[in-house]
Order: sequence, then C-alpha cells, then structure tokens
Amino acid sequence: MTMNLILGIESSCDECAAAVVEHGKHIRSSIVATQIAYHAPWNGVVPELASRMHTEWIYDVVQQALSEAHCTLDDIDGVAVTSEPGLAGSLLVGLCFAKALAWSSKKPFVGVNHILAHLYAPQLDHDIPYPYLGLMVSGGHTLIARVDAYDDIAILGTTIDDAVGEAFDKVAKYYNLGYPGGVAIDKLARNGDPRACRFPVPNLYKGEHTYDVSYSGLKTAAIYQLDQFWNPAYERTNENLAASFEKAAIDILCSRLFNAAEDTGITTIVAGGGVAANTYLSSLLASHSELTVYFPPLSLCGDNAAMIAGLGYKLLARGDRSPLTLNANPRVKAFRRITI
Ligand code: KG4
Ligand code: ZN
Repeated sequence: MTMNLILGIESSCDECAAAVVEHGKHIRSSIVATQIAYHAPWNGVVPELASRMHTEWIYDVVQQALSEAHCTLDDIDGVAVTSEPGLAGSLLVGLCFAKALAWSSKKPFVGVNHILAHLYAPQLDHDIPYPYLGLMVSGGHTLIARVDAYDDIAILGTTIDDAVGEAFDKVAKYYNLGYPGGVAIDKLARNGDPRACRFPVPNLYKGEHTYDVSYSGLKTAAIYQLDQFWNPAYERTNENLAASFEKAAIDILCSRLFNAAEDTGITTIVAGGGVAANTYLSSLLASHSELTVYFPPLSLCGDNAAMIAGLGYKLLARGDRSPLTLNANPRVKAFRRITI
C-alpha cells in the first residue's frame, strides 16, 4: 500500500489539532484549535477541562482538516496520533478518536511520540541532514539531544527540575503578567532592560551534569528574592523584570547548547517546542554564525498535528503499525542518554 496522505491528530495538552500531510513533507492542512482562553482564568492548563473540550471539539477539527485538504477519509492512507507523553485524559481523546477512525475505515494506524514529533517539525519545510542537535523546549520538556534519525535521539542534557516554559509560566503567573506566561514575558521583555536584575546562574558543571539545566533557583530568585538581585539604578517595572528573567532563562539553556555543539562538533541546531518561539532565543542563536540554526515557523513551534502526520508518515511508510489496543502513556519515554 502506498503511503501518500496521512491524517495526524494531536491532543496531548491544550491544543486540539488535526492535519493532513503529503509524503511527510507537504502540509495540505493544519488546524490548531487552542483552548488558551478557557484556561486563562486559572493561569494554567486545567487537565479535566482540557480533555472535556477535546471531546467536544475533535470531530469538527478533524472534519475541517480533511475539508481544507480537499479530501475525505477515503483518500487518507494512514492515521497517526500522539500517544505519548502528555496529559492522560487529553491524550486519550485523540487516541480513541484516531483508533475509531482507523478501525472503521480499515486504515493503517500508528501512535507517535510528541517529543520526536517536535524535533521532526523543521523537516516539514526543510531537508535537514542528520545528525543535528535538537533543542526541545516547551512547558513540559527541556531537552538537548543529538538527533540521529527521525526515530532515534540520544539525550545530552535535560532539566533537573522545572521545564524552561514552566519557569516562564510560573513567574508570569506570580506577577500576573499574562497567559501563556512565555508569550507575555517575551512581549514585555522587548521594552525592558535585561541589566535591571542580575539573576544567579546555576552551577551544574560538575559530574554527569555537563549539559543539564536547572530552573528552580532562577524561579525562586525571581519570585521570592527579587529585592536581593534588583539593581537599584533601574526602575522596578514588569518590562525590566521580564527582560532580565528572559535573558537569564535563555542564557542558562544556550550556554549548555553551545558547549554541546563544541564538544560534539555538531553545528546544526534544530529548535522545537513552544519556547522556540522566543524572540531573544532566536536572536541569540542567529548571532552565532558558526551554527546553522533551523527554527520551525511559529505555526509549527507550538503543539500542532502536522508534525504528528509528518513523523507518522515516516513510521507508517517503513511498515510500523500500532495495535488498536495501544494505550496513552503520560510519561516521557526513557530515551538513550549519552555523555561526550
Ligand atoms: O510546545 P508547547 O505549545 O506545549 C507543550 O508544553 O508541550 O509549549 C508551551 C510553552 C508554554 O510554557 C509557553 O509559556 C511557552 O511554551 N512559550 C514561550 C513563548 N511562546 C510560548 N516561552 C517563551 N517565549 C515565547 N515566545
Ligand atoms: Zn509540545
């Protein structure tokens, strides 16, 4: 059976998404229905609310993806869905919907790992040779990985506590800066001065932690010890706080990434996940001319189903099939970890 058009479904967190992708590359349609406004009053994703909204929305989202791609379920050659990791209740909605579609239409079906899909996203509009260094940064994940193939990554570093996006979200929530926190801080930071507050830098260089990062110290400093780190020469504004916090959070990450690039000799960087949309991160990486950096377009940085259909195509085309008994796995799979 030829694999041409793949329907992808993504519902691991608060975006309800479906997409039709041709040959793992050409996006025929990509619908992302975001629940941001519904979670905003709580300044964070409410899992129960997210899964209930997915249940209400998923049928229309999939219909719209098919209709914008000018096709019907009959034209689809396979169904791919995020099966891990994510919020259990949210994952189950997309997974069960995808299984029902695949079963009733007798189409091949495959479960896709959300992290591998984020790292595949830039391949949708580029042909990036492997290996590359993947920087996967979102509300749930912070990974620096050597990406050897679409299905094979080795972890060089990760966070030992909070994810980078989570740190943005928590600081924004505490100071009521807006939701989602990363987007609000990015916007404020453009009118602030990063020298206003000199936050402490975690020291994890010892032992096995060469490329690991930590955000609990920065978060504590920004929330509970601001007086201690604020430079009195600067006005105490949200803009200055946002610029200082953003610089500290991104510098922590990039110092490890630059070390990893130097030590591995791999100079191609592929960024993915919601935090990859950060303005300071992209300008900092772009300023390093020795690196070739690929950022997915904004529409592919955050959660979307095109990346699921894209990676799903690769898996289905080589013959992978998931059983219709496949379960959702909320936890992050134990990827191989390497030291240089
Ligand atoms: O990949 P994503 O849409 O969802 C998952 O967490 O899987 O990422 C969402 C995260 C949130 O923490 C959000 O605050 C952060 O990405 N984010 C940003 C920016 N846009 C989204 N963080 C910093 N700067 C941004 N421009
Ligand atoms: Zn994500």
